[in-house]
This record gives sequence, C-alpha cells and structure tokens, in this order.
Amino acid sequence: MNIILLGYMGSGKSLIGYELSKILNKSFIDFDKFIELKEKKPIREIFEINGEIYFRKIESKYLNELLGSATNAIIALGGGTPCYGNNMQMIKNNQNSKSVYLQASVVVLSKRLLSEPGNRPLLKNIILEPEMNEFVGKHLFERSNYYNQADLIIKADSNPEEIIEQIILKLF
Ligand code: S3P
Repeated sequence: MNIILLGYMGSGKSLIGYELSKILNKSFIDFDKFIELKEKKPIREIFEINGEIYFRKIESKYLNELLGSATNAIIALGGGTPCYGNNMQMIKNNQNSKSVYLQASVVVLSKRLLSEPGNRPLLKNIILEPEMNEFVGKHLFERSNYYNQADLIIKADSNPEEIIEQIILKLF
C-alpha cells in the first residue's frame, strides 16, 4: 500500500514522509524531486522558464505516471498537487493508496515558511510575517476543500514524532 501525504507548503510532508518510510520499511518518493528528475531542472527553474501553467500540466502527467507504478511507497506530494485538474480524483481513485492530509495552522505554517529559506517560487517575494500570514491564510482557505478530501486528516502543528505516531495509530 502507498501512503500519500498532502498538505500546504511547510506542513512537513517531506520530513514526515521520509521518517515514516524508514519506520514502515517502504520506499520514499518526494514528488517535487520526482518531477525535477524527469524534467532535468529544479522546480524553481520550471516556474521561471516555462511558467506555472506548464508546471501544473506536467505535475498532473507525472502524478498519473507515479500512481500507476508505485505500489509500496510513501509519497510526499507538492503543496498544490491535489488542487489542480483531476489530481485529487486520481488520488482518491487509486485503490492501492491511502491519502493523509497534514493539517497545520496558518500561524505555524507562516512561521515555518519564513524560517526555512526554501526554494518556493510561489513565496519568493514574501519576507514579512504579516504578509506571509495573509497569503497563507487566503491560499490555504482556497485549497482546504481539496485537502479535506483525504482519507485521513492529521493535525500537524506538533513535533514530527507525535505526527508520525498519530498517522500510524489512525492508519493501522
Ligand atoms: C507548490 C508547492 C511546492 C512545489 C511548487 C508548488 C504549491 O511543493 O510543488 O513550488 O503550489 O504549493 P512543497 O509543498 O513541497 O513546498
């Protein structure tokens, strides 16, 4: 069985996914990295050179490819993956997967996103906390309808150990 982690940027999908894969002895696939390998360039460059519309198109194509081949993996999606095209439907239709929404609050997400100077094209111009709070608040509100369709919703404001424990307790 695959476990598909979804949630907003900064919700801990990659970290939790990696740790969970070691505990459950499954392979770990970071979907952003998967896309970068296929396209042979970083996500940041795909956004800069080809634009977001192109990115969303290939994101959908590679999701379809990945869901068709992965059988026993932990998959950490990109923050926007479930929210475009028929991606969430694809995730829900996949008989071999359980989806888990890592639900973190706006305040925690904003703090994490400001403290990790990641390579996130959508946030590249936001440096102040009030702006980040406002952006994340609106954006998360728009995306929640997709995230909330996951098989399982796990509160993700706490530390990784607690979140992992909750996922294991509730999934098995
Ligand atoms: C995006 C999130 C990113 C990456 C891309 C777009 C989004 O992934 O896929 O920059 O739309 O939320 P992370 O959630 O891993 O940062």
